[in-house]
Amino acid sequence: MEVKDRVFNVMDRTSSIGVFDSGVGGLTVVRALMERLPFESISYFGDTARVPYGVKSVETIAHFAGQITDFLLQQKVKLLIVACNTMSAVALEVIRRLSPVPVLDVIHAGARSAAMATKARYVAVIGTPATINSNAYARAIHQFDPAIRIFSQACALFVPLVEEGWLDHPVTHLTAREYLKVVLSYPVDTLVLGCTHYPLLKPVIQEVVGVGIQLVDSAEAMAEEAAEMLTDKGLWSPLRVSPEYRFYVTDIPVRFQTIGERFLGRSLPNVKVVQL
Ligand code: DGL
Repeated sequence: MEVKDRVFNVMDRTSSIGVFDSGVGGLTVVRALMERLPFESISYFGDTARVPYGVKSVETIAHFAGQITDFLLQQKVKLLIVACNTMSAVALEVIRRLSPVPVLDVIHAGARSAAMATKARYVAVIGTPATINSNAYARAIHQFDPAIRIFSQACALFVPLVEEGWLDHPVTHLTAREYLKVVLSYPVDTLVLGCTHYPLLKPVIQEVVGVGIQLVDSAEAMAEEAAEMLTDKGLWSPLRVSPEYRFYVTDIPVRFQTIGERFLGRSLPNVKVVQL
């Protein structure tokens, strides 16, 4: 029997929600899900041995995404959430083809929020090089409103700066000013934080762009879409006890716990190292 069929047969409302990312950055999405869906169990997968994905080729990212999807389906999840913008941008078709359970992705969630937020109909999007080169945000935003003008900028250095913990460092301020100066030369009123790591840079980015520009955090938008999907499909857990949180990673790198807890905003228990 294929993984696809096996998972479909056992799927029930008490199963966990599978969330995945290239590393620990997707814990920003888990954090938002824990707040919005307090009785739902979550199985998180972070490919910590192979992160970052944002500077890799489309073929490699799609191959890794397929492996992670198979792994989470074997954990019998009832819903898959692609928390990684890079995988959402270039590997969504592969993931959807493999999955018998509904799949949600952060780009759709962020694009919807941005289309709703902009009054000027000028939106800026920042993300990893793979996300920006894919043009996935522009396509997704245009599905909601084709008249919105979109200006994008890859910010490759933001991921390592966040991993280093330089959330309020002069180098980060300088880097943000440099990256954002081009998009700010357009009359944008909305800026999409199109990467799992960027919500941690919100204070710096907001200071650089000014209060007139609204930041769209796809983690929050994602939690809202997950709630809607559970309602649509009748998949809310009927249990009213503390849910189970499981964290699967492919490596435990130096400072993993500290960095992971920074993303999650609380302690990170039940971490298990697995091989794909
Ligand atoms: N998770 C990735 C994203 O949201 C950022 C880290 C990486 O490059 O793998 O695009």
